[in-house]
Amino acid sequence: MNLKDRLTGFLEPSEIKMLYKSFDIVGDIAILKIPERLEGKGEVIAEALMQIHRNVKTVLCQVGPVSGDLRLRELRWLRGEKRFETIHKEHGCLFKVDLSKCYFSPRLSYERMRIARQVKSGEVIVNMFAGVGCFSIIIARHSGAKKVYSIDINPAAIHYMRENINLNRVENVVEAILGDSKEIILSRLTGAVDRVLMPLPEKAYEYLDYALMALKPTGGIIHYYDFEHTKKGEDPIANVADKVSKKLSDLGVAFNISLARIVRTVGPRWFQVALDIFISDRRDLCVGGGRGEEEVNGYIGMSNR
Ligand SMILES: C[S@@+](CC[C@H](N)C(=O)[O-])C[C@H]1O[C@@H](n2cnc3c(N)ncnc32)[C@H](O)[C@@H]1O
Repeated sequence: MNLKDRLTGFLEPSEIKMLYKSFDIVGDIAILKIPERLEGKGEVIAEALMQIHRNVKTVLCQVGPVSGDLRLRELRWLRGEKRFETIHKEHGCLFKVDLSKCYFSPRLSYERMRIARQVKSGEVIVNMFAGVGCFSIIIARHSGAKKVYSIDINPAAIHYMRENINLNRVENVVEAILGDSKEIILSRLTGAVDRVLMPLPEKAYEYLDYALMALKPTGGIIHYYDFEHTKKGEDPIANVADKVSKKLSDLGVAFNISLARIVRTVGPRWFQVALDIFISDRRDLCVGGGRGEEEVNGYIGMSNR
């Protein structure tokens, strides 16, 4: 039985029509969005959801969009146990998270394993926007990666990432690093890695120069994410690929977009797009744009310090 069927008799048919079709379940917590006109019915809706999904112990209402640099969603408790912390299982890994303090989306599950499957034994990786460590830990558990540097600017995310590293016994592979990924790359990871993950669509374009700097001089792979609003008849994948290709050409690196896909639909004509970019040589990397260049580990790199 789905939520709409369960609520028949409890809500008016016109109210049932207004309900959003999808909701997230993270561990034993469900997160719902409730249309403004149904706000007074939140508890009835939450109770119905708990009756259908017996493993759900807490229902939260998302009252605003995912926002800010830390990508947090504003949540209000609706029903069940009063907490925001849970443990989510994905691809045989455990992720402890406080949903009010850290970003977490179960909707990236396929994408996380898609990347992990590409990783070859002995690779060194940097995850520039690692959250509570999902991509990094799944890679560590499902590939022979040697090291996954996992950076996040949110101290709460780093706290949970460290717990998750221990929970999943990947202490020797995943290293949690608190800070701004561009600062960390400039200070200790220039020319160091085979693969870069950029799972923050709002900032990936701005940080692309730093992803290139992190790669070994002979190149590697960048997993790039972006959001794209399209006009009628436009292809979101082509738009993102064109934008990124232009930037990489301007930076003077040899590249090939080996795969491009829509990760998910975010809204009407609004998509999250993933590009797997193979950089075959970044020795000619030319960044700085007059903002002052400096020699970093033998390569010309931009400094914002
Ligand atoms: C969309 S979440 C990534 C989620 C994670 N990869 C996952 O699969 O759950 C983006 C993360 O980037 C972090 N962040 C934002 N700006 C950052 C920066 N300049 N440097 C490092 N991390 C940053 C946020 O705190 C947030 O945890």
